[in-house]
Amino acid sequence: MRAFIKRMFVISTIFTLLLLTGCTTPSKENRAEQDAAVKTEKALAAEQNQTESSQSQEQTTATAQEPTPAAAEVPKPQKKSEEPFFEPYLLSETEVLHPPYEWGDCTVCHKDSNPDKSKNYDLVMDPPDLCYQCHDKDLKEGKKFVHGPVAAGACTACHNPHKSKNKRLLVASNINELCTSCHTAKGEFLHKTQNIHPPVKDQCINCHDPHTEDFKFQLKADGKKDLCVMCHVDKKERIETSKNKHGAINKPNGCQECHDPHGTGQPKMLKADSIMNMCLKCHNQPLKRDEDGAKLINMAKHLKENPDWHGPIQWGDCAMCHNPHGSNNFRMLKKPFPATFYANFDTKNYICFECHESKKISEKETTEYTNFRNGTQNLHYVHVDKKKGRTCRACHDFHGTKDYPHHLRKKTKFGKINFPIRFIETPTGGSCAPACHARRYYDREKPIVNTK
Ligand code: HEC
Ligand code: HEC
Ligand code: HEC
Ligand code: HEC
Ligand code: HEC
Ligand code: HEC
Ligand code: HEC
Ligand code: HEC
Ligand code: HEC
Ligand code: HEC
Ligand code: HEC
Repeated sequence: MRAFIKRMFVISTIFTLLLLTGCTTPSKENRAEQDAAVKTEKALAAEQNQTESSQSQEQTTATAQEPTPAAAEVPKPQKKSEEPFFEPYLLSETEVLHPPYEWGDCTVCHKDSNPDKSKNYDLVMDPPDLCYQCHDKDLKEGKKFVHGPVAAGACTACHNPHKSKNKRLLVASNINELCTSCHTAKGEFLHKTQNIHPPVKDQCINCHDPHTEDFKFQLKADGKKDLCVMCHVDKKERIETSKNKHGAINKPNGCQECHDPHGTGQPKMLKADSIMNMCLKCHNQPLKRDEDGAKLINMAKHLKENPDWHGPIQWGDCAMCHNPHGSNNFRMLKKPFPATFYANFDTKNYICFECHESKKISEKETTEYTNFRNGTQNLHYVHVDKKKGRTCRACHDFHGTKDYPHHLRKKTKFGKINFPIRFIETPTGGSCAPACHARRYYDREKPIVNTK
């Protein structure tokens, strides 16, 4: 199991690295490019597979006609239908013999000293008591929850009492094959669902005990949260130590508020068809912050009323900015963002620069980094890049807007008052008239001298 987790960890680390290196400039085009790249890779792989298999078929037919010394090297074409769905991990190299059977004294279990299938093979008693002559009953059914077939004494549904080609005398060479021989719905689910939770694909007993456990569904720990963080130690640390915790995780279903423990077909085993729809299942009403009772807007309503959505929201991915498991940053953001209207400017304090060029703010003069300029004078710089600079929220909304382009908000909240910004766009610039100053104009081609 350790080895498995380690293996998966290495794989996921590689993936994360790939993602990190590939995702520094997420734009729609970029995504499309990435998608296309992935598709091309997949297509190439598929083509290669095809050519490989047709080649090997050609070679096999060739060797069948004229056997050559090289025949042994020719790989045999594998027929899909003969491949087992589950890896036969449990196959033992040597046949497993149950010691009392191996000892040859059949009468520990049978009435007859020489039981024969055609004659008398009556048992001295029925399982499970038969087995409890030697095995500890407490280990098999001593805990709060006992697995159906164990409670029914059907030990032989899973174990052969004499011998087996599989470890633990099991009747199947793979745990999942064993479990799904009765739990057929789960078997169907495994066959047809994408994004199955890796430990589920591996073996059911990573989480469920086959006999008995103290937690519902014979789980090795409480399945809402404790079980999950047994393996996901990084999440345990995050949910316990984050300054801004997510109320979602403290709801009765814990991790299962958002994730299904086996999988749903959706990425990350989410219980909705996109991250955004997951979030909006709860954020469809005003909520209160646990830490201080502060009111949080009804995000579903906000997005419905403001259909010009910010890029990552168009992609349905709120988790590009927020960490659903909590964070030390304001509003559980993945990177910092100032909590206040004014802040000393520092590029490190703005999650925005994960995707947008910071020079759009920090270059005093520019002809390229921003359109918010009067001639070459950068008005982002004027407003934002200083001690007590205005934070982006003074002018932009980060989720959705409606009235103005460029995600400019209609009203800016200053203290308790909402001031309208009254933005007017022109082909080469614009103007606004917030409470802070009278209407001022900017023009990228013919800089305007604002007198007031
Ligand atoms: C640990 C207990 C145990 C021992 C020891 C044991 N058996 Fe069995 N045997 C069983 C059980 C339980 C069944 C019934 C299996 C079932 O109902 O599916 C069985 C069934 C049988 C059967 C009939 C079904 C079959 O699998 O062919 C034969 C024959 C048999 N045993 C022979 C033997 C012989 C011979 C020995 C001694 C070499 C022996 N057993 C030792 C538990 C035992
Ligand atoms: C006469 C005593 C005896 C009886 C009765 C008995 N067992 Fe065992 N069983 C053993 C011994 C001894 C071992 C080996 C223990 C070990 O390796 O730790 C064993 C091992 C096993 C194992 C583990 C095999 C492995 O490869 O690790 C299973 C499973 C098992 N028994 C199931 C059963 C079942 C099911 C029954 C009832 C049908 C049963 N036993 C009845 C003595 C018994
Ligand atoms: C649903 C299938 C299933 C049933 C029913 C079942 N077992 Fe098991 N048993 C398993 C599996 C799977 C393992 C291997 C667990 C592992 O390797 O961690 C196992 C392991 C064992 C072992 C060896 C390891 C250990 O935990 O001691 C013994 C002994 C055993 N079972 C006895 C029994 C007895 C006795 C019964 C009936 C009371 C029984 N089993 C019923 C699936 C089952
Ligand atoms: C011989 C058939 C059989 C096999 C094999 C079997 N189970 Fe079960 N399982 C049952 C039965 C019967 C129940 C009880 C169903 C109920 O209470 O509704 C059950 C119940 C469960 C439950 C609780 C479900 C609930 O709704 O309460 C879980 C979890 C479970 N099994 C997991 C497993 C795992 C994991 C394996 C493989 C190690 C396995 N089962 C193998 C027959 C089997
Ligand atoms: C990562 C841990 C994990 C693994 C691995 C796992 N399960 Fe579960 N399983 C759970 C949890 C957690 C629940 C409880 C769900 C709940 O609280 O509603 C559960 C519930 C169940 C149930 C009862 C509820 C239901 O979904 O029907 C069955 C049956 C079950 N599991 C079977 C299996 C089988 C079969 C496998 C292997 C193919 C397996 N599980 C692998 C964690 C796991
Ligand atoms: C036995 C160990 C184990 C347990 C218990 C476990 N997981 Fe996992 N989980 C893994 C491994 C291994 C991976 C794959 C590597 C990774 O992404 O960390 C994984 C992956 C995931 C993923 C990412 C899936 C994807 O599509 O990328 C999520 C989400 C997840 N687990 C949630 C949970 C939840 C929720 C629970 C509790 C119900 C849970 N895990 C319990 C081992 C476990
Ligand atoms: C509010 C919904 C929500 C809850 C509750 C939640 N998660 Fe997640 N989880 C997500 C989302 C969304 C993602 C995808 C994140 C991303 O793409 O950056 C995710 C991703 C994951 C991953 C994959 C690795 C990663 O960080 O991207 C794991 C593992 C995971 N969650 C485990 C857990 C565990 C364990 C719990 C309970 C302690 C839990 N989650 C609770 C929403 C949730
Ligand atoms: C199961 C319900 C639920 C789901 C699903 C959910 N949330 Fe929350 N969220 C809450 C609750 C309750 C609060 C308020 C309590 C708190 O966290 O302090 C909250 C608070 C927040 C906050 C404010 C946190 C702070 O510290 O100020 C943000 C941001 C947030 N959620 C984003 C998300 C995102 C993004 C998603 C989707 C990945 C999501 N939520 C999914 C229930 C949920
Ligand atoms: C581009 C980054 C970004 C994305 C994507 C994003 N948010 Fe936010 N979110 C923020 C920032 C920044 C704040 C802080 C806003 C403020 O205080 O002015 C915030 C604040 C919030 C709040 C608290 C609102 C309040 O009333 O103070 C919630 C709830 C929230 N986001 C949920 C979501 C949900 C749900 C999604 C996906 C639909 C999402 N966010 C997507 C950046 C983002
Ligand atoms: C004083 C108001 C104001 C503040 C504060 C502000 N912006 Fe802007 N921003 C604008 C205006 C007005 C435009 C539209 C310029 C145009 O196209 O005419 C704009 C445009 C943008 C654009 C579109 C591309 C461009 O530069 O033309 C981005 C991206 C942007 N702002 C990001 C930010 C970020 C990030 C912050 C905070 C670090 C921020 N803005 C702070 C007013 C502001
Ligand atoms: C995860 C990447 C990402 C992050 C982080 C991000 N943005 Fe954006 N932003 C985009 C994308 C993609 C677009 C283009 C699509 C659109 O118009 O929304 C965009 C567009 C904009 C625009 C409008 C540009 C225009 O000319 O219409 C503004 C303004 C903006 N972002 C401000 C911000 C601010 C302020 C932040 C920090 C709170 C931020 N963004 C964080 C990805 C991001």
